[in-house]
Amino acid sequence: MNNQPLAVVTGAGSGIGAAIATELSRRGHYVVVADINEDAAELVAASLSAGEAMRLDVTNADAVEQAVQGIVASHGRLDVWVSNAGISKMERFVDISPADLARTFEVNTYGVFYCGQSAARAMIALHRPGIIVNTASMAAKQGKAPFLADYVASKFAVLGLTQAMALELAPHQIRVNSVCPGFVATPMQTRELAWEAELRGTTPDDVRQGWINDTPLARLQTPEDVAKVVAFLASDDAAFLTGEAISVNGGAFMD
Ligand SMILES: NC(=O)c1ccc[n+]([C@@H]2O[C@H](COP(=O)([O-])OP(=O)(O)OC[C@H]3O[C@@H](n4cnc5c(N)ncnc54)[C@H](O)[C@@H]3O)[C@@H](O)[C@H]2O)c1
Repeated sequence: MNNQPLAVVTGAGSGIGAAIATELSRRGHYVVVADINEDAAELVAASLSAGEAMRLDVTNADAVEQAVQGIVASHGRLDVWVSNAGISKMERFVDISPADLARTFEVNTYGVFYCGQSAARAMIALHRPGIIVNTASMAAKQGKAPFLADYVASKFAVLGLTQAMALELAPHQIRVNSVCPGFVATPMQTRELAWEAELRGTTPDDVRQGWINDTPLARLQTPEDVAKVVAFLASDDAAFLTGEAISVNGGAFMD
């Protein structure tokens, strides 16, 4: 055990989660790099100055509870939890199967719910302030996200959940916020470029250019753009900020 604040980041083996783990580590956190893909988590954890990898499927509530209990037992603290794991699959609304709808909600919504519950229980039991950040999306604020109806619904739910958690956990000095990225260059985006190109009968390059054209700051977002805002939310600079959904999208959607 040491005095470094301890942060857990889910879906941290890739993309935005890996960048969040790296940024929190750079700012002095010990980071548990949690992902369903253990090899990916190991690679990211090995690049940090202090941290460890953990295989975690956020859709398994029992596994999440055990993981949190194990972290608290080994480290004696849990300061920051980032529920970042998420999935997407582009299909026309009329073609989305019940199984795909269920899977999207299991990871993007139930996973955030289960992780938030277990993290909050542990933070309350530790009698220490805590910070929870949920990765939502620009598609949590507007349905103008083609071929992603299940994803949109699952991410809108995250914003409501964030507010409800923020209200109930405030008396325990636990702050809960969401971050809402736009078009972020990650493996998820590479898959979406191919799907959208196929569904529109165009090329991934055309789709990418359309996304850039939709972004006043005129570039794709980097995972680090998101990670820096998550690190801000996890810092004392955001000490009076809770229940919010912070857009980080280069102006692609303004609210
Ligand atoms: N890339 C974007 O443009 C974008 C935009 C807005 C929001 N987001 C959100 O940001 C988050 C990260 O997305 P990304 O672009 O880095 O995606 P990514 O696919 O690059 O990384 C997602 C990670 O989550 C992990 N994961 C998937 N299911 C899991 C599960 N059940 N349990 C634990 N880990 C699981 C994957 O193994 C992967 O390492 C997601 O919640 C996504 O919805 C992404």
